[in-house]
Amino acid sequence: MKKILSLALILSLLFAVTACGQTEADDSGENKTVGHKEASTMEEMTENIEETESVLVGENESSMPGTEVKTIMKREFNFETKTVTLNSGYEMPINGLGTYSLHGDECINAVKTALSNGGRLIDTASAYSNEAEIGQAIREAIDEGIIQREDIFVITKIYPGSEMENPEQSIQACLNRLDIGYVDMMLLHHPDRNDVSAYKVMEQFVEDGKIRSIGLSNWYVEELTELLPQVDIVPALVQNEIHPYYQENDVIPFIQDLGIVVQGWYPLGGRGHTGELLGDPVISAIAEAHGASSAQVILRWNLQKGVVVIPGSGNPDHIRENMELYHFSLTEDEMDQINALDRGEKHDWY
Ligand SMILES: NC(=O)c1ccc[n+]([C@@H]2O[C@H](COP(=O)([O-])OP(=O)(O)OC[C@H]3O[C@@H](n4cnc5c(N)ncnc54)[C@H](OP(=O)(O)O)[C@@H]3O)[C@@H](O)[C@H]2O)c1
Repeated sequence: MKKILSLALILSLLFAVTACGQTEADDSGENKTVGHKEASTMEEMTENIEETESVLVGENESSMPGTEVKTIMKREFNFETKTVTLNSGYEMPINGLGTYSLHGDECINAVKTALSNGGRLIDTASAYSNEAEIGQAIREAIDEGIIQREDIFVITKIYPGSEMENPEQSIQACLNRLDIGYVDMMLLHHPDRNDVSAYKVMEQFVEDGKIRSIGLSNWYVEELTELLPQVDIVPALVQNEIHPYYQENDVIPFIQDLGIVVQGWYPLGGRGHTGELLGDPVISAIAEAHGASSAQVILRWNLQKGVVVIPGSGNPDHIRENMELYHFSLTEDEMDQINALDRGEKHDWY
């Protein structure tokens, strides 16, 4: 049994190496091929091998010869390129812009401000009713030479209820509203009675090349344990509420150990809660010590925990500030101080 696993691990690593392209980073460290398949070298793969374990997923647990074996590799952030390579093989920026509650010109301006200031990751959802504005902002930024489509990574989501009941139609509707060719990542917004069948339709869209990676939002240990054996493509991302007052310290490692990247929503606590969090004396003192803002400290804390951040903002100054997270780093002691702020205090119901 061990031999089968080892052989399969080696074969899958070799396959990953041969299948990979080359990633480029310019002098600024900015990733230029966000939309491309991962560029791991054999050296990098070998370095990672110690962290790699091979497991059987789904119904293949019978371990018969020839059964499919998935390689699990903990996804490390690259602070030079500001990206992480997903289990789908695509690179995703590790910080970006959340667009919940942004609409009309405010939304278009926010997206273009982010893209003009190095932002390369945009998070939206069918439920935010702003995919059309986001698509427009992206197309305008492309026309104005600010970015190329391949430089950026766009996430959207389909919602429980009628959308997950009619997944083909609702996924295609997201693609049509965005109108930017493919979608980099599609998530199921919440668990739902039709989530497995909706997920399988997302898998089909990946097969058809219309979506590059797929994942889940608001999925925790129990929900993941239930869903994973029923699907073929391991989710590339799970997006959950995470901030210093709600740290999910039990859930994050569980997800990361499955080779799935974790992304935090409400990184600044969410609207109505940011005042208290940004004014927290521990965070303010750390911010002062680094000549950074409280928001930057919280976002950096997430990145150092291996959590991707998508702070929401319609304010150009905040958007610029939220992109500047790489000129300082938190010490172990500072990380511990923020870790100690956890109150298990959720700021939304899901
Ligand atoms: N999957 C899910 O179920 C789910 C749920 C909720 C959210 N999300 C995603 O996560 C994203 C982030 O959540 P969110 O936008 O609701 O909450 P958030 O990022 O925690 O906080 C947004 C609030 O912070 C303020 N802010 C942003 N940057 C700031 C800065 N540098 N200094 C001071 N204030 C700042 C914003 O005000 P200004 O506009 O004035 O900057 C806004 O009021 C959403 O936009 C959405 O994309 C996903």
